[in-house]
Amino acid sequence: MTAGPGGTVFKPDARFPNLMVTRHPLLRHKVTLLRKRDTPKKIFKELVDEIAMLLAYEITSDLATEEVRVETPMESTSGDIVLGERLTLVPILRAGLGMVDGVLDLIPTMRVGHIGLQRDHDTLEPIDYYFKIPPPLEESVFIVVDPMLATGGSASAAVSYLKKSGARNIRMMCIVSAPEGVQRMLDDHPDVPVYAAALDRELNEKGYILPGLGDAGDRLFGTD
Ligand code: PRP
Ligand code: URA
Repeated sequence: MTAGPGGTVFKPDARFPNLMVTRHPLLRHKVTLLRKRDTPKKIFKELVDEIAMLLAYEITSDLATEEVRVETPMESTSGDIVLGERLTLVPILRAGLGMVDGVLDLIPTMRVGHIGLQRDHDTLEPIDYYFKIPPPLEESVFIVVDPMLATGGSASAAVSYLKKSGARNIRMMCIVSAPEGVQRMLDDHPDVPVYAAALDRELNEKGYILPGLGDAGDRLFGTD
């Protein structure tokens, strides 16, 4: 177990040098509530936002800042500001949308692009249906968000689309990850760090994460 810069981020598994998990007590508490079968839809959405905000805090800990002058009521001084306009949040539709408000509450200047992917229930392969990313892609730091990293097919495809369109600096943020998905990201995109709130045990035969939290999209949007 390796402690990260803030002491709450660590690499949980030597097989996955690409994976960072946040172990902050508040985050672990919220993930536990999120997993509960009887957590109501409204609370589920609030928890997803809160967890997304806490993860975004960690994933942006190395962002570039610039020094500016600022007038306090007392005197002139200098301070740092983050170059927010170069940050782009990319939710993978549909469940990724559930994480957007929480991240934007923390970083309101972030631009938002969208990638629409739907996992085929039989093949588990992602089918794409939407791609809209604000330019210029070369200049931006992209944070791709999706609550679930299961087989990794959706996340890997989303990152491939971004790279093909010119993106160079990409990070992946999810709430629950499975070893299979983290391995897929390591194989396909070793340059993309994956930040998660949890690394779970395995996938079941239908590609659902165990112990997981069920179908994130259905629980967010009430479609089950
Ligand atoms: C879920 C989830 C991820 C994907 C993860 O979405 O939100 O996008 O599955 O699985 P993978 O790692 O095996 O690709 P789903 O395709 O069910 O669509 P939805 O967000 O519209 O519910
Ligand atoms: N997508 C989900 O929403 N949940 C899983 O466990 C796997 C994929």
